[in-house]
Amino acid sequence: MELTQAMQGRRSIRGYKPDPVPRALLEDIIALASRAPSSMNTQPWHFHVLTGAPLEAVRKGNSERMLAGVPPQREIPDHGAYEGVHRDRQVGIAKQLFAAMGIARDDKERRQDWVMRGFRQFDAPVSVVVTFDKSVENQGTIGHFDLGAVTYGLVLAAWDRGLGTVINGQGIMQSPVVREHAQIPEDQVIMTCVAMGWPDETFEANGVVSTRRSVEDTARFVGFDE
Ligand SMILES: Cc1cc2nc3c(=O)[nH]c(=O)nc-3n(C[C@H](O)[C@H](O)[C@H](O)COP(=O)(O)O)c2cc1C
Repeated sequence: MELTQAMQGRRSIRGYKPDPVPRALLEDIIALASRAPSSMNTQPWHFHVLTGAPLEAVRKGNSERMLAGVPPQREIPDHGAYEGVHRDRQVGIAKQLFAAMGIARDDKERRQDWVMRGFRQFDAPVSVVVTFDKSVENQGTIGHFDLGAVTYGLVLAAWDRGLGTVINGQGIMQSPVVREHAQIPEDQVIMTCVAMGWPDETFEANGVVSTRRSVEDTARFVGFDE
């Protein structure tokens, strides 16, 4: 697949077939993603690839804690509530997803169920927990930049092989659960997780194409018209 095609066609996948994903394929995807650039080639990332019983334990632990009202416990700073144009875009994608799924505004039960899917890692057969070395925390936010680069590489590499993904901030909102069942070493910080598996073509939200700001809106060109 051409890179342009992968970048254009990729979208978040939130409904999966239960079929397992071969370990060799996951190794191949991680190897390709690891070609991502990083600050001074520090490569501070780690991938904890969960399936089977440990993943089920994470789904269960996350769900129980969220339903019990346990406040989120992340290991990275919380982004808080978005405002202004960011809030507008957040509402925009939510409306697109709910419309695709046929979830009405006042259907509290299905809305709640939708939210809980994220805590269940979207019922995907695989969840990749992405962490970074605690030692780079003292270097400010540059490690976060590196993790973003490698995680985008991961989702593109997966897409290229026919696998769907969604980067899943919800999945690590109860990080102590993830830390326990994924057995994350003490010297690593949990950044995010990525649900991964074969897309379920019958799951309506998988067809949603999110909007993007135009180049005119995002970019300035300086010194071009002189
Ligand atoms: C850091 C990060 C966290 C995310 N967390 C979630 C999440 O918790 N639940 C979810 O459904 N999607 C999550 N997403 C996916 C975004 O909603 C999605 O990328 C965005 O709406 C654009 O849609 P697209 O990926 O289909 O292009 C996350 C994406 C990123 C980059």
